[in-house]
Amino acid sequence: MGNRSLRKNMGEKRITYSEYLHLAKLLDLQDGGVAGDRDISADELHFIIVHQSFELWFKLILNQLAEARALLSLEPVPESHIPLIVHHLDRTTEILKLMQSQWKVMETLTPQGFLAFRDELGTASGFESFQMRELEILLGLDNVQRPGGMDPLAHFEKLAGESEQGKRAWDRLVAASQKETLSEILTRWLARTPIHGSSPDDEGDDEVVRGFIEGHLSSMEAHDNESLERHKAMGTPAIEKVKVRFDASLAAAREYLLPDGQVYRPRAGLLFIESYRELPLLAWPRTLIDSIVELEQQLLLFRHHHARMVERMIGRRVGTGGSSGVDYLDSTTKARIFTDLWQVRSILVKRESLDDVKDSGFYGFTSE
Ligand code: HEM
Repeated sequence: MGNRSLRKNMGEKRITYSEYLHLAKLLDLQDGGVAGDRDISADELHFIIVHQSFELWFKLILNQLAEARALLSLEPVPESHIPLIVHHLDRTTEILKLMQSQWKVMETLTPQGFLAFRDELGTASGFESFQMRELEILLGLDNVQRPGGMDPLAHFEKLAGESEQGKRAWDRLVAASQKETLSEILTRWLARTPIHGSSPDDEGDDEVVRGFIEGHLSSMEAHDNESLERHKAMGTPAIEKVKVRFDASLAAAREYLLPDGQVYRPRAGLLFIESYRELPLLAWPRTLIDSIVELEQQLLLFRHHHARMVERMIGRRVGTGGSSGVDYLDSTTKARIFTDLWQVRSILVKRESLDDVKDSGFYGFTSE
């Protein structure tokens, strides 16, 4: 073995740090503008490098999330895969947190410093970041109506007809749209959650799940009634309005769990995991859910911090991409991708008010 590796090493050509990282190429890309024939200021170099760093992180995020999606798409997902999925998601979250502090670096550019070269950007804008759009598509964000007629995908379709680069970006987005999203795959996985020991293909599963849901709604109602009594005892004004609110939230919980009166297993599975967090078998599933909630929260904070940085930099003026600027950016913090994961939080009930889990041995407890 020694001889073989010695021979191999002797025949090997040295690879340097710079070669391995393509540093010459990488460091040649901060020249500003398409032609790269313009002298750029220290401020503009800063602006370009911050943007390029973000795009590199986006590239890694896309890679991590594609890995997580592939692992979660197996049916069934081998238990050993869940920690790996969580690992990819948590790395993504850490990158998003890091990117939030990068806005502070961007903010060292003064409004006047930015105005000095802003016109050079023409209509170029982060709105045209195809990696950001791919990230949204991969996660499962609907290309929901954004305000002021801002439609990112329609814009990319238009750019496809204008240049080779535009076409490549559009082809990427089309290819991304044809794959199952992380949100869809998560929903399929949640639907398979064993509830009180019963799985989707088991006989009588529908009744078990319905019983679990009805039991939960009863606990919720009992708790709401107690809260209402407390409000009455405390003399809360307009108590009838408080009652209307409790009634509405109970009706919404019923519609969430039994849309059109039918069992919707993904939400029931999610509720089961969130309710019985102490069960050993559910420990990794709930960690996975927590990781996704954390990821979406950090993505929202990323958008929020970008908007605050922009407000500081350009006030309320129109963006280079033609949007209303800060108002538009703030509106993008309203949408949620993993809506079920957020909504379930409104209907949880404290553990001691819930029925005990049936078949607890199945979930890793050795005695009932
Ligand atoms: C001086 C710094 C910056 C300013 C003033 C700024 C301003 C804006 C504005 C006004 C928009 C809305 C679209 C438009 O009308 O242009 C926007 C969108 C966007 N920007 Fe920035 N930006 C800055 C830096 C960055 C950086 C460093 C990134 C990192 C990649 C970035 C990423 C984005 C993204 C992804 C969008 C699209 C948001 C969406 O539509 O969901 N921006 N930016």
